[in-house]
Amino acid sequence: MIRLSEVDSTNNFLKSKVSNSEPLPEGTVIMAGHQFAGRGQQENTWFTEPGLNLTFSIYLCPSFLPISEQFMLNMAVSVGIRDALAKFLGPLLKVKWPNDLYYNDQKLGGILIENILSGITYKAGIIGIGINVNQLNFDPALLNKATSMRKILQRDVNLLELLAEICSHIEGQYLKLKSGAFNKLQADYVKGLYRLNEKKLYRSNNETFEGVITNVAAGGFLIIESEGIEKQYNFKEVEFLNNI
Ligand code: BTN
Repeated sequence: MIRLSEVDSTNNFLKSKVSNSEPLPEGTVIMAGHQFAGRGQQENTWFTEPGLNLTFSIYLCPSFLPISEQFMLNMAVSVGIRDALAKFLGPLLKVKWPNDLYYNDQKLGGILIENILSGITYKAGIIGIGINVNQLNFDPALLNKATSMRKILQRDVNLLELLAEICSHIEGQYLKLKSGAFNKLQADYVKGLYRLNEKKLYRSNNETFEGVITNVAAGGFLIIESEGIEKQYNFKEVEFLNNI
């Protein structure tokens, strides 16, 4: 593990090491006390209060995984984090497809996986993870949208102990992935999915509809059933809405 007191983004730091071909053992973790330019999915910024949360990246080399199966890596990481956090937070901790961590209807953390490919094989997977741990105050724009372990548990959580727990669960799921247990992994991912089998509102193609998430296909498509018909959605093709 490399601990940095401050960095722009642990994903950037790890990526530049990989692209400079610096020798790194698989499983290296880069952890930062503070990220001043943390990145989220879809070009968003990931803000956290210095010293209170987990912001780290793990270096993996899933060269055994066909690129067409890359969503499986996302499933393995998501299940690992979910299982580790559920030890603290119980079954209300869910993965919101594709890879947000939710407690009730509030976001507790997120994952940003960046794949570095060499031709048609994986050179590296940069697994960036941000968890709101001991932060109590959030931007008013995030009121009722973001939460932290401190808010839920009413006590501080030791960051290094939590990190060790998360990494050991991710390692367990990664080894399952390596052994080819795709179906089991997919079933584990789906069973702890946010809104699974619940009738909720969604929007796609400017149309709002009521539907039920029933599954996630191996390629990572979200399957929603509405009026008796199941449809598959790719990332960004469907938005989760709150019921009025
Ligand atoms: C999201 O948008 O939900 C994903 C957030 C991922 C944030 C983590 S924090 C550690 C790593 N470094 C980054 O710059 N981003 C990820």
